[in-house]
Amino acid sequence: MNLRRVHLSAIPFILAACLGLQAQDRATLSVDLKNPKAAVSPMLYGLMTEEINYSYDGGLYAELIRNRTFRSDWTGILNWYVVEKGSSKAKMSLDSKTGPSAALTNSLKLEVTRADAASPAGVLNEGYWGMAVRPNTTFTGSFFAKAEKDVPVRIQLVADQSGKVLATTSIPVAGTEWKEYKFSLHSGAVAASAQNHVEFTVDRPATLWLQLVSLFPPTYRNRVNGNRPDLMEKLAAMRPSFLRFPGGNYLEGNTIATRFDWKKMIGPMVDRPTHPGTWTYHSTDGMGLLEFLQWCEDLKMQPLLAVYGGYSLGGEVVKPGPALDPYVQDALDEIEYVTGAADTKWGAVRARDGHPAPFPLHYVEVGNEDNFDKAKTYDGRYAQFHKAIKAKYPNLEIIATMPVSGITPDVLDDHYYKREQGMFDLAKHYDTVDRKGPKIFVGEWATREGSPTPNFGAALGDAAFLTGLERNSDLVVMSAYAPLLVNVNPGGMQWSSDLIGYDALTSYGSPSYYTQVMFAGCLGDHISDTTLTGGGDKLFFAATSTAKSKACLKLVNASSTAQTLSIQLKGLGAGAHAAQVETLRANTTWATNSITEPTRIVPVRSKLTVTGETLQHTLPAYSIQVMEIEFK
Ligand code: AHR
Repeated sequence: MNLRRVHLSAIPFILAACLGLQAQDRATLSVDLKNPKAAVSPMLYGLMTEEINYSYDGGLYAELIRNRTFRSDWTGILNWYVVEKGSSKAKMSLDSKTGPSAALTNSLKLEVTRADAASPAGVLNEGYWGMAVRPNTTFTGSFFAKAEKDVPVRIQLVADQSGKVLATTSIPVAGTEWKEYKFSLHSGAVAASAQNHVEFTVDRPATLWLQLVSLFPPTYRNRVNGNRPDLMEKLAAMRPSFLRFPGGNYLEGNTIATRFDWKKMIGPMVDRPTHPGTWTYHSTDGMGLLEFLQWCEDLKMQPLLAVYGGYSLGGEVVKPGPALDPYVQDALDEIEYVTGAADTKWGAVRARDGHPAPFPLHYVEVGNEDNFDKAKTYDGRYAQFHKAIKAKYPNLEIIATMPVSGITPDVLDDHYYKREQGMFDLAKHYDTVDRKGPKIFVGEWATREGSPTPNFGAALGDAAFLTGLERNSDLVVMSAYAPLLVNVNPGGMQWSSDLIGYDALTSYGSPSYYTQVMFAGCLGDHISDTTLTGGGDKLFFAATSTAKSKACLKLVNASSTAQTLSIQLKGLGAGAHAAQVETLRANTTWATNSITEPTRIVPVRSKLTVTGETLQHTLPAYSIQVMEIEFK
């Protein structure tokens, strides 16, 4: 640049631009706090979940033992290894002739031909990419077993590299009949680590059979068969109002036989046969229908129950008509399990399972992404479910997964997976959608940039998109990001760009996660009319307010330069108004959080005062802000 040819008055702007501080053309945002436009849906922010990316097994579901029911392939029993210490000799095999229940009909047979106290032998389990052991922690375990001759089984948590024993106990296995054994392990003053495994050994020659071997660390709210506290806390911080479960493709299964068959996923674990999931790995089904509902209860979320709708991902379809009746009945039974009093057939089963009180339920979704059904049978399938559910449960709102003809669903589920620019474009989509049709549930959406978790560019796309949902939350009644969880170990991920990442020991939120936390953390009960002039096409906004209490502004500057805004807050009133600001920002759109750098990008809080009804405000480059302004 030839400085001699530049007018002196331009120099401050050029310097600012060089420093990345240059404001774009000045923008004015007018927010009308006096005349609320429409009510904000109180259920706007929720969660969507399914078994993908080791979300439950190896994720939220706190079980430490991987392959606790001994599936095997041509290589042998997966995730289990023989332990032969010193001069001991042992062999493990799959015995398909004996198991403890009608659901679990096989077992691991352990034959120890040589062992003594100094040379024990047995089997070990490697966990889901290790097992987290923390200091002074009690682990709760159990297994089913039988033995040719009574034998004490030693159980030890062991460090992978050093072989150091971190916790130990012993259980006498007695008798040739299957029995359940329970035990606990306590770690002492050990360092927290995930590079550990668990060993089950004997100190003499013995033959025994094992099945459903389980080990849990402390869980969220100490639930038996419960969830990982760190992940539950991260989810709680999102203030979700509902949980859409169990999918997603996981609901459908690759085939009809491998759908989410809820009746096989209730009651004691020993009665759950387990099944192949949709996302390349087998599900323990420890996260069954009741566990989903308890998860809702723990986080004060409404269940949004997706029922199998007769279409599976691989293309199998149950035709509408008599063939579909049993599936419709299954859905009705499922709804009764969730909502029925303890004296109804399925309400009684729920009470038997430990939860006599019914759960609240307002939304039921029929199927998932039925636009992929090449046989085009959804109109008929949806109608059959809709009529049967409404006949028995007239107050339930029914969600269709695509537009249907012949019957009007209460709600339509829209899914969006796009790159950053695609989400910027979508930010205005609902501004012009007709209000006469069904309400909208954005049941899955994400800006897909970054792996395994989204980068800051994706967070900008997310935030822009969310401003569009907030501005239109009279129409868009619910929304949920997907997928929610990912185990970041090699082989853990099947779908990139997931909200929360973790390994066996720790977890972290992506910039997209913090965007959700910020947006859901300040939401008024009414939409305020907003108009923006100037500012270019990378400035996004929404405003909601609660009368006489607060206004919540969402501001997104997705450009690489700062943006100055004049914000007019009509109706805020005279005087000084305290405002809290949360800012999420990064220097580049590539910047991100990771398992090793979990807090590179986190919201930063600040305060400001709005005097009267006008605020001159500068949004930093690449920034997302939520501003909560107190009314006087
Ligand atoms: O969220 C991942 C997958 O994307 C879901 O299982 C499916 O519904 C969608 O296609």
